[in-house]
Amino acid sequence: MCGISGIIDQKPVTRNLLTSIANLEYRGYDSCGMAMLNGKGIEVRKNTGGVEEVRSREKLDMMTGNLGIAHTRWATHGGVTTENAHPHLSQNGEFAIVHNGIISNYQKLRERLIGEGLEFRSTTDTEVFVNLVEEAFAQKNDVLGAFLEALKQIQGTYSIVLLSSHDPEHLYCVKQDSPLIIGLGEGCNYIGSDINAFLEHTRKAVVLDDGEFAVISRERYEISDVGKREEREKSILQIDWDTETTKKGGFSHYMIKEIFDEPQTARQALDVPQEQIKQLAEMFQNAPHAYLMGVGTTFFICQMAQYLFSSLSKKYFPAISSDEFNGVVPVSSGELVVAVSQSGETFDTKFSLNVAHEMGAKTAAIVNVMGSSISRMVDHVIMQGSGPEICVVSTKAALAQALLLLRTALELGYKEGCLDSKSFQSHQKELESFPELISILLNEKSGFMRNLARITSSVQNWIFLGCGIYYPVAMESALKMKEVTYLHAEGMPAGFLKHGTLSMIEESVHSLFFVPPPAEVDLHNRTIIAIEEIKTRGGTLVGLYFEGDSQAKSLLDHAVELPPVPSLIAPFVQMILAQMFAYYTALDLKRNIDKPRNLAKSVTVG
Ligand code: M6R
Repeated sequence: MCGISGIIDQKPVTRNLLTSIANLEYRGYDSCGMAMLNGKGIEVRKNTGGVEEVRSREKLDMMTGNLGIAHTRWATHGGVTTENAHPHLSQNGEFAIVHNGIISNYQKLRERLIGEGLEFRSTTDTEVFVNLVEEAFAQKNDVLGAFLEALKQIQGTYSIVLLSSHDPEHLYCVKQDSPLIIGLGEGCNYIGSDINAFLEHTRKAVVLDDGEFAVISRERYEISDVGKREEREKSILQIDWDTETTKKGGFSHYMIKEIFDEPQTARQALDVPQEQIKQLAEMFQNAPHAYLMGVGTTFFICQMAQYLFSSLSKKYFPAISSDEFNGVVPVSSGELVVAVSQSGETFDTKFSLNVAHEMGAKTAAIVNVMGSSISRMVDHVIMQGSGPEICVVSTKAALAQALLLLRTALELGYKEGCLDSKSFQSHQKELESFPELISILLNEKSGFMRNLARITSSVQNWIFLGCGIYYPVAMESALKMKEVTYLHAEGMPAGFLKHGTLSMIEESVHSLFFVPPPAEVDLHNRTIIAIEEIKTRGGTLVGLYFEGDSQAKSLLDHAVELPPVPSLIAPFVQMILAQMFAYYTALDLKRNIDKPRNLAKSVTVG
């Protein structure tokens, strides 16, 4: 999704503006640009392509000035063209803006402005807004007054930053349903659509709420309510993310670096205070009905949790994809909706949480990004503390979410008397050993996963299969494979095969089986039955299984054997190795791994 940056400093800001949009690249975009006030007026340079490409083509580093705005655009209204890239200048060139979101009534406003003789350079909704500011300024001769006047006319979702040659001392911004954060520096201030825009320069930030605008100078910032125009006191957020974690650290891609971060991510998830887990477990315990909600990967994490709650606390909490939530859940007062979101900005999840809230439901969330909308809109939030996840596809953040939900299921199981204190303690011990275990596994098994990927990277059609909790593991792993390799990979419960999919089976169709430890007798038996169903029909069998499983070993054509691990954590181990498999397959296929085509890191539109 689009990224916004703005900097006002005593020193030239060119280099920092460039770095800030490079740090927002992970969000996914197709064009970018910068606007700076340089003593003569506003200069805009922009084009299609990546930050480095546009920097060199447009010589962005030759721009000068000590206040500027920049943008990475992911096309929504209007195609991927230089004209549609941001920033957008008003007709007379005295105002420039960057904008995230969608101005829903822009067509009408555009027609009016065209009727009045205005010629648009782009087909965007954004250019309409900047011209509304110019129009209002002609009446008011006051930049803030013009900005607010223009805001009155628009509807939709937006975060906007405005720069004007009439005011070299300030940047102006506003937030409505699209995130915007102010970073507080020494003699300089920053604006970003997320904290990665300025994390290198400051750890202090103020998060704008919907309906708030800010006037920002080098030394000060003033936040007010758009409707009442009253100044608001806001608390300062101290960001504890480590910038080193955002660097690739010698890895060729963020995806593999983030997979190798997983032992540390797991540790961080296990370090989240038990008090917070208890609070969430109590919310589940006290609610007449509770639902788990997420979308994409986080939906599959919720599905895994559904199995964990069922087996550890004998409770059924349905997992629902956020985009379908409102259509199927008649949520009512007192019920609980627990959302999972890495970015904390996903439109569908935010929307459904809002509806749940309006219906009087209690809400909770597991979120990674500090200061994000979802983290601030729920009754109880658990910050997963996984650090920045830069690759578009989620790996380490997903693992942390699953572990936090596992901890909650254990806590609830204990509270409900389904687990006695001995088994609760023994599960806690298993969890404590998990980071070290995956650290060893990642190192020992990466070569095997690499080889498996080499053997199979020409396969065009995959079916990923598992039983019980291994079913959502299969679904999530198939999504990972699709996202990063662009291959067809379909996840399903192993028991589904004979109800239709078996007709597809022939040698070229490969199945990847997530085989549980043999100690999980029922799950294991059911998985072996499905493996045999495919074997009999000549399909090619690939699988992950645990040591000592002679049945799986003898049936699978290509397999990776894993050391014995406790049943509780076995599905997580397989999920991590499947992430690696997707990565190495994509590497062989020379895909754009960290930014797969057509995808964005945080999907803030519906
Ligand atoms: O930021 P969120 O966790 O709310 O994002 C949800 C999905 O958009 C996200 O998990 C998506 O499916 C990723 N590309 C998964 O790798």
